[in-house]
Amino acid sequence: MAKKLPRARELWKSRTGLILAMAGGAIGLGNFLRFPVQAAENGGGAFMIPYIIAFFVIGIPLMWIECAIGRYGGARGHGTAPAIFNLIWKSPISRLIGVLGLWIPLIVVIYYIYIESWTLGYSIHFLLGTSPELAIGANTPDEFLKPYSNFLGTYLGAGEGDLLSPSFMAYFALIVTLALNLIILLRGVSRGIEAFAKFALPALFIMAIILLVRVLTLETLSGNAIEGLNFLWTPDLNLLKNPGVWVAAAGQMFFTLSLGFGSMIVYSSYLRANQDIVLNGLSSAAINETAEVVLGGSIAIPAAVAFFGVAGAVSIAQSGAFNLGFVSLPAIFASMPAGQFLGFLWFFLLFFAGLTSSLFLIQTIIAFFEDEFRLSRTKSVLITMGIIVSSIFMIIFVNQTLDEWDFWAGTVGIVFFGLMEVVIFMWVFGGEKAWAEINRDGTIKVPRFFYYVLRYITPLFMLILLVWWGIELLPEELEKASWTIWAARAYLVMLFVVLAVLVFMADRRRNRENES
Ligand code: PHE
Repeated sequence: MAKKLPRARELWKSRTGLILAMAGGAIGLGNFLRFPVQAAENGGGAFMIPYIIAFFVIGIPLMWIECAIGRYGGARGHGTAPAIFNLIWKSPISRLIGVLGLWIPLIVVIYYIYIESWTLGYSIHFLLGTSPELAIGANTPDEFLKPYSNFLGTYLGAGEGDLLSPSFMAYFALIVTLALNLIILLRGVSRGIEAFAKFALPALFIMAIILLVRVLTLETLSGNAIEGLNFLWTPDLNLLKNPGVWVAAAGQMFFTLSLGFGSMIVYSSYLRANQDIVLNGLSSAAINETAEVVLGGSIAIPAAVAFFGVAGAVSIAQSGAFNLGFVSLPAIFASMPAGQFLGFLWFFLLFFAGLTSSLFLIQTIIAFFEDEFRLSRTKSVLITMGIIVSSIFMIIFVNQTLDEWDFWAGTVGIVFFGLMEVVIFMWVFGGEKAWAEINRDGTIKVPRFFYYVLRYITPLFMLILLVWWGIELLPEELEKASWTIWAARAYLVMLFVVLAVLVFMADRRRNRENES
């Protein structure tokens, strides 16, 4: 009996559009907030060497692997990890591993979209002039930054207790952010995501270049911005002996290229079956790296160094993930001519960077409902947004949930899932077969040398990372035992179970369909 053909899946409309959409999925808050913090904390120039090595050993290889897995699945009617892994390896284990390719993006987007909304909230504050007053006559960096750290505390509603009570603007900006994501996603892959990326990415580059030019011409009594560039670009070979620097660099590589989430698989599943992935993958990665090291590296660190010197900038980076971007930079901009506008530009730049990334994460879950349950786009979008909206209270109100989820899903989870992708593709599917699949219809040919990197070095590198985390970070993590931490963990488990049940339901559905 003739099998029912899968419903036609959407495809990217143009090559520029797909590269910009993929690059937009990669360029995010990580490029402008996380990268400078990681680089400063880990010795500036000392960080850049492992970072560049990680680009070749993890970044490019995993980019090609995810693109190849996605294109392979897309040609067979599937865009998400559980279904594609099952095409490659018929076993409940592959499906269970695949669930991570839904769970990680879902968890991450629930907190990511909230942070994204802060950037919108802050840009509105700067536009309206309701951002904090500069501390006139402040003598120490602490005094200078105080109004801004208080402002962040009030915005998020952080107090003494375990529960947070955010400001009006925090709710307002969140609702607008959710609505914008919803509207774009309802329009679909090519008319929504692709069309938006074509506009947002060039706009983002223009905003970043304006800020960069302003920052690099900065001279203060305590120094200038160029010293910040020196700090970032003077290699320090001594620190290379420190495994922590390597782990941080590799972790940043995963995060910034959006690898190990399962989402790049989904975006590549909208490629044509005979479309190049070698050059398209490389181009998207290269655009992200430009945005990261050239733009991301030339704004936050140089500005902080000009004001506080290298040591001051490093201690700000160490004082918390958001202090550089949400406390120091707005304070610095505010003390410059046209400060309000610069502050607005900074946060609006972040908002665009965040928006293209949240679309990318959410589309992963939408694709699952569309492909595996054959639901319409509208239904899939509404169900997915419903799950996100009904989970986000954990992040808004329960203190420490954000960090806890970021640890399990956004830090350890992505490396574990990345390793599984390499094992399933390069080993279970088969080395030569996988190699041919990557190179198939490629505009350029990947040098054979990479075959060995993909098959041996990349997985080994990730395995070492995981073992190191197990030894260094896990014991510390497991010591945390407040009720908020346990609530955050319970929620993580619950979402995993829900997704796993859905994956197995989709399976039964498919089997029934194949029988009839
Ligand atoms: N790469 C994004 C960033 O740099 C983070 C991200 C990962 C976004 C995965 C979406 C998906 O901010």
